[in-house]
Amino acid sequence: MQTKDTLQILSEQLSPFRTQNPAAALEWLSEHFSGKIVFSTSFGLEDQVISHLIFSQQLPIRVFTLDTGRNFQETYATWSRTVEQYQQPIEVFAPETSAVERLLAEKGPNSFYASVENRKECCQIRKVEPLARALKGQQVWITGIRADQSPNRLDMQPLEWDDTHQLFKFHPLFDWTFEQVQAFADTHRVPQNPLHKKGFVSIGCAPCTRAVQPGEDFRAGRWWWEDSSKKECGLHVHN
Ligand code: ADX
Ligand code: SF4
Repeated sequence: MQTKDTLQILSEQLSPFRTQNPAAALEWLSEHFSGKIVFSTSFGLEDQVISHLIFSQQLPIRVFTLDTGRNFQETYATWSRTVEQYQQPIEVFAPETSAVERLLAEKGPNSFYASVENRKECCQIRKVEPLARALKGQQVWITGIRADQSPNRLDMQPLEWDDTHQLFKFHPLFDWTFEQVQAFADTHRVPQNPLHKKGFVSIGCAPCTRAVQPGEDFRAGRWWWEDSSKKECGLHVHN
């Protein structure tokens, strides 16, 4: 049975495959959670490497994206190139039309700059609610999170229990450095978002992401106008 209590057992079972490489771990999980395992991609560098592992081995893991409607054109271009290159399906979860219409009519198109509450409201409508729909009935959620992306992520584990969605969450590249991810992507000709070459490391929605300067934190370009302790969009609620 899949519950929080089986996390330790599953971590031990997964460990030898994790030590081999992320591809082996993904393959093992896809066999053990057949039909109940999904990967969420925002087409960032880490996600593109994971998509490559899934698509090139034809692993039975459904891949989906949350299309907030506010992504960069470069992100949409990366999405198109990924579909062209691998010829594999990417499912899409979009925000509820009526919720977006209400938000825009009541608060205008750029309400997120006015307050943290407004920003979280937009993230809730455009990301968090669609994510809940995408994860409904699933048992494993794969993400591109790495430990050294932020101090908060250093406290996480490669395999976790997600109380909110009641499933296991696995981060195959958790222990990789940014340099390892970049080297893998270059070697394997993985399609890359052109914004990465312009100083954008962590890429979210266009109005809420800027490039970072050398030496700045990995996530400094996300919601840059907010206090760093508030920078969570609600996708990854740390238990
Ligand atoms: S966020 O919480 O700040 O938005 P981040 O951009 O670091 O998250 O991405 C971490 C992981 O969350 C990604 O590797 C991906 O698995 C997932 N993710 C983030 N944004 C999206 C999106 N728009 N669609 C699908 N998955 C996403
Ligand atoms: Fe809205 Fe910005 Fe959150 Fe995207 S990142 S959902 S535009 S507040």
